[in-house]
Amino acid sequence: MNILVTGGAGFIGSRLIERLLRHEHAQITCLDNYNDYYSPHLKRENVQAFAGNARVRMIEGSFTDAAAMRALFQTNKIEYVVHLGGYAGVRYSVENPFPYEQHNVGGTLALLEAARYEPVRRFLLASSSTVYGRNAVAPFQEDAFLGTPLSPYGVSKRAAELMCLTYLDLFRVPVVCIRPFSIYGPRLRPDLALTIFAQAILDGRPLPLFGDGSIRRDFTYVDDFCDGLEAALTADGVVGEAINLGHDEPVSIREVIAALERALGRTAAIERLPERPGEMPVTHADLTKARRLLGYSPATSFEDGVARFCEWFVRRAQSIT
Ligand SMILES: NC(=O)c1ccc[n+]([C@@H]2O[C@H](COP(=O)([O-])OP(=O)(O)OC[C@H]3O[C@@H](n4cnc5c(N)ncnc54)[C@H](O)[C@@H]3O)[C@@H](O)[C@H]2O)c1
Repeated sequence: MNILVTGGAGFIGSRLIERLLRHEHAQITCLDNYNDYYSPHLKRENVQAFAGNARVRMIEGSFTDAAAMRALFQTNKIEYVVHLGGYAGVRYSVENPFPYEQHNVGGTLALLEAARYEPVRRFLLASSSTVYGRNAVAPFQEDAFLGTPLSPYGVSKRAAELMCLTYLDLFRVPVVCIRPFSIYGPRLRPDLALTIFAQAILDGRPLPLFGDGSIRRDFTYVDDFCDGLEAALTADGVVGEAINLGHDEPVSIREVIAALERALGRTAAIERLPERPGEMPVTHADLTKARRLLGYSPATSFEDGVARFCEWFVRRAQSIT
């Protein structure tokens, strides 16, 4: 199995590569441009687990370069693509929308073009739960009314999905659009609430809480999510589908803080800030399709997942002081 993982140095990509290496016939190409959306140093740390592995080809470059992607597919005889690379911040996209169009839409197009001329067995797109907009009804069903996304990030993922479906239609690129819901775990990105809260609690600083903490997110542990991705690489009947990968148990931000307090053994100080406009009150994945097509069954409780995240977070914090 020759697998290209884009965004392989990121939070999810690096974890997926570690797990794919458990399959002895897996040959991985890890592509990342180590951009500075967050510290490239963290991304270099992420790849340490496999960078020296003979079955992993490490490539530093951008998938927005269509000619380079076509050459890469040809030279490395890519059979499977897991396209996790991209700009991932929802909030940042509201202030700086251009990289989202360039990397998430344009970059996906460049990869699809490569797959058009160098056919692959499967092309998984990491889309997002943010394709569901304000008028979508929770729990979100993939094929129900999506509404208008609330951020340029959500739009970029919806556009990437549509581009994938058009490339399936026109050129038989075997795409699957995976919609992740608030993935968390060790190596979590520094821009996400769990990381920001955990750091504030460890530092004894007040953590910023926007609104009353009642909004709920369908937090999904990274290994459960990777189980779903791996299943989607080979499952029958999934090409052309959009599939939610969530946990089906939304947790409020207040509950997140309480779980972190328990896992870290400290009490959080809270700085209340005004509610931010444009937040979905709840994200909640309907998993009927994922269960049926992928045998997906997220097994990690939020309490256990937060404990594992905190264990990693504290160990890392100690190693750098
Ligand atoms: N983490 C979540 O909760 C979540 C939720 C929904 C969707 N997603 C999607 O899943 C994917 C992975 O998310 P993550 O949290 O691991 O993010 P991440 O930022 O840690 O990883 C993305 C990686 O893509 C790389 N990248 C960006 N543009 C690139 C380009 N042009 N060429 C090569 N590499 C490039 C970045 O350097 C980064 O290492 C993203 O596409 C994200 O939008 C994540």
